[in-house]
Amino acid sequence: MNYRHSFHAGNHADVLKHAVLLRMVTLMQGKETPLCYLDSHAGTALYDLQGDDAERTGEYLGGIGRLWEQAELPELLGAYRDAVALYNTDGQLRLYPGSPQLIADRLREQDRMIVSELHPADAAILKEHYAGEPRIAVHHRDGYELPKAFLPVPEKRALWLLDPPFEKSDDLERCMSAVQIAVQRMRQTVIALWYPIKDQRLLQDFYRRMADAGLPKVLRIELNVRPADTSLGLNGSGLMLVNPPWPLWQELEQVLPWLAGELAVSGPGGWRMDWLAGEP
Ligand SMILES: C[S@@+](CC[C@H](N)C(=O)[O-])C[C@H]1O[C@@H](n2cnc3c(N)ncnc32)[C@H](O)[C@@H]1O
Repeated sequence: MNYRHSFHAGNHADVLKHAVLLRMVTLMQGKETPLCYLDSHAGTALYDLQGDDAERTGEYLGGIGRLWEQAELPELLGAYRDAVALYNTDGQLRLYPGSPQLIADRLREQDRMIVSELHPADAAILKEHYAGEPRIAVHHRDGYELPKAFLPVPEKRALWLLDPPFEKSDDLERCMSAVQIAVQRMRQTVIALWYPIKDQRLLQDFYRRMADAGLPKVLRIELNVRPADTSLGLNGSGLMLVNPPWPLWQELEQVLPWLAGELAVSGPGGWRMDWLAGEP
């Protein structure tokens, strides 16, 4: 396992993923009924943006760094920036909360969180960080096993962030079968599957298969910071949202163009949002 999220925390892909994830949780928490959040590839709880790893890439400067001092932000992004600001109360951007921490901060009494991470160091940090927190269970195990191990949940409402590093060639394949298993076991599971925009050939196959997988509803959202065919690395990223809560897609119609404008690195940034299945 070579991937370490500490090199990438707070970059443009995290901005998209975390802003949307937070909004999904907030919308789902509009109901009092309990919610179970699953984070299968959790990383760690907090990242030091002035540490060696983050400083080496400087990726956060093109992500949260560009939102940090904006005078005005669309509401959905303002809520995300506030969530990061909780850890930077002196106004200096130094600590960045990863996905488990962003949600841990929002758990209500009735909610619960199941986290898994395969890297032994990060899993150990998470276990220590959430020790004594009865609503949070941390597992050092393969995240793709989560749907089989935990779905259906007794709460009857689940939100699953599926966020692998995509360092292995079969990650997309494993994502697709895990998503199908999740929906077979609990049809109303809400899923956010993050993916990198790099290899267009692989992506075309992925899109086709997500559209044909028999999933109830699939919303595809993408944000490009470079033209999609640039061979420099991560040109952008996307989220496949299965059963997204209403009215997320209406809100994103304002947010995605704004982000594409602000986070573009070379040339105009791009975005798209469409339904691959079950348009409401
Ligand atoms: C993109 S990072 C996660 C970032 C985190 N979800 C966030 O948004 O803050 C992917 C993580 O998955 C972990 N990982 C890789 N393969 C895994 C597997 N099969 N099961 C669980 N975790 C895995 C890596 O160690 C890495 O920490």
